Amino acid sequence: MNRDETTKNTFALTTPLYYVNDLPHIGSAYTTMAADTIARFQKLLSKSVLLVTGTDEHGQKIERSAQAKEMKPQQFCDEIVPNFISLWKLLNIQYDRFSRTTAPKHASIVQEFFKRVWDNGDIYLGQQKGWYCVSCEEFKEERELLDKHRCPIHPTKEVEWRDEENYFFRLSKYQDKLLAYFDSKPDFIQPESRRNEVLNFVNQGLQDFSISRVNLEWGFPVPENPKHTLYVWFDALLGYITALLEPDDEPTLENALKNWYPFDLHLIGKDILRFHAVYWPAMLMSAGLPLPGKVFGHGFLTKDGRKMGKTLGNTVDPIELIDKYGADAVRYYFLKEIEFGKDGDFNEVRFIDVVNADLANDLGNLLNRILGMVKKYCGGKIPVVTAEHIDNDNPLKGLGLHLGEQVKIAYEALAFSQACNLVLSLVQGSNKFIDDQAPWSLYKQTRQQEVECVLYTVLESVRLAVYLLSPIIPNISTAAYQQLGFEVNFNDPTSIDLAPFDIHSKWGLLSSTQNLGTPQPIFKRIDLSKND
Ligand code: MSP
Repeated sequence: MNRDETTKNTFALTTPLYYVNDLPHIGSAYTTMAADTIARFQKLLSKSVLLVTGTDEHGQKIERSAQAKEMKPQQFCDEIVPNFISLWKLLNIQYDRFSRTTAPKHASIVQEFFKRVWDNGDIYLGQQKGWYCVSCEEFKEERELLDKHRCPIHPTKEVEWRDEENYFFRLSKYQDKLLAYFDSKPDFIQPESRRNEVLNFVNQGLQDFSISRVNLEWGFPVPENPKHTLYVWFDALLGYITALLEPDDEPTLENALKNWYPFDLHLIGKDILRFHAVYWPAMLMSAGLPLPGKVFGHGFLTKDGRKMGKTLGNTVDPIELIDKYGADAVRYYFLKEIEFGKDGDFNEVRFIDVVNADLANDLGNLLNRILGMVKKYCGGKIPVVTAEHIDNDNPLKGLGLHLGEQVKIAYEALAFSQACNLVLSLVQGSNKFIDDQAPWSLYKQTRQQEVECVLYTVLESVRLAVYLLSPIIPNISTAAYQQLGFEVNFNDPTSIDLAPFDIHSKWGLLSSTQNLGTPQPIFKRIDLSKND
């Protein structure tokens, strides 16, 4: 993280704009859950946050999907888009802007941007020959292809040969500038392995890429020559900028760029890294615009080692998962179980094991157990103890005092799994601490002061744990926080202002002046025998 990001008090980030060729699946949900978690974490830091998501609706892939359903493309898109919006609601995604590339204002932004690049002499007419994957909407090198000219990302699809006149963008002109930029901002592309991939690609020499198509109707006509349709990726990336317009703004670049631009983070999957880390920065350089702060390419969710997706038909239905297990469990599993940046296989048995072990047993039972003991041994009142009363060699205090800072570093590095594991160490430590200290037997021996110190230590540790997990499991954290006597709702941005990170991430906050709420299970153990 560079200085700018830590000192600025705004944070703008994007998910990709999803293709609407089909209903959203768990792969699209994955990026969005991660983006929402980052947005929520940044809000805890008291930043103003703008989360942009949306849909990418032009191009051949969508045109053909609509044809297959015998629908007009616009009508087809209009039917698919609400499914994204409703899935984001089910997943508890708090986005600020939903950018559709078929929105009328987007057309104006695209035109103006195209003109800038055109006026800069970076667009020319040429002949495009090559293999095109419609599912990727991308030309492929012959050497990348599987046998029978199949796409490596969509192995059931054959690429198509194209030999046509296209407009080209002078990407080659930006090779040195891009390399200089990558050099000056070593954390621009994350994780490190993806940065190396991009560096290799650029160092091999950049070729100009075609930004128009012929024989395609569904898209924007190229301003200089309406027989050509603008390449879907040229239009789609600009959807990020269109999203920045306020509802009443005239759709001009100047208006779009005035508040949140440049983005701090584009969160994407590894398959679209080149577009975001090479093509997009070069396009922005050509238009004379500042570049984003960071591009993070996460891995794929796989099933039996293959990318999950509609093309392969091997995806998991996110709605079914949420219906069965709830949004928090789904968010937690994918962010904790898969190291962000790496691929990860989905397995429902493992899913149940993880959420039962961590959320129901370790965390849920701990809260219930400690609230029960406070009721029994302290009349349901938070003991009159402060952090200073607790010995410095107390294992939970030892962990708790540094946890906030460590978890912050993990979130900032988008190491969600690490953030969860750090918090879990406090949760598991708390369970062990209760067993070791056996407050029930201290109570029998009328060692009340010790009982109270033990209970305070654990209560405070659970508080810190649920606070730090709130960007991932906001519903569970809200329920737990309220049982601990805080009127905080982690789903309500104004309420989050009441729980700023610099205060709530510190071990020792809990005070005897507040009243505990009614204990209730925060996460019900999943019992398959009852579900089936
Ligand atoms: N429309 C483009 C993005 C344009 S952004 C200006 C696109 N759309 S997509 O719907 O195909 O993919 C969107 C995102 O979902 C990508 O980041 C992609 O990596 C992600 N995923 C799609 N399937 C996935 C998995 N199986 N696993 C993880 N993420 C995956 O590309």
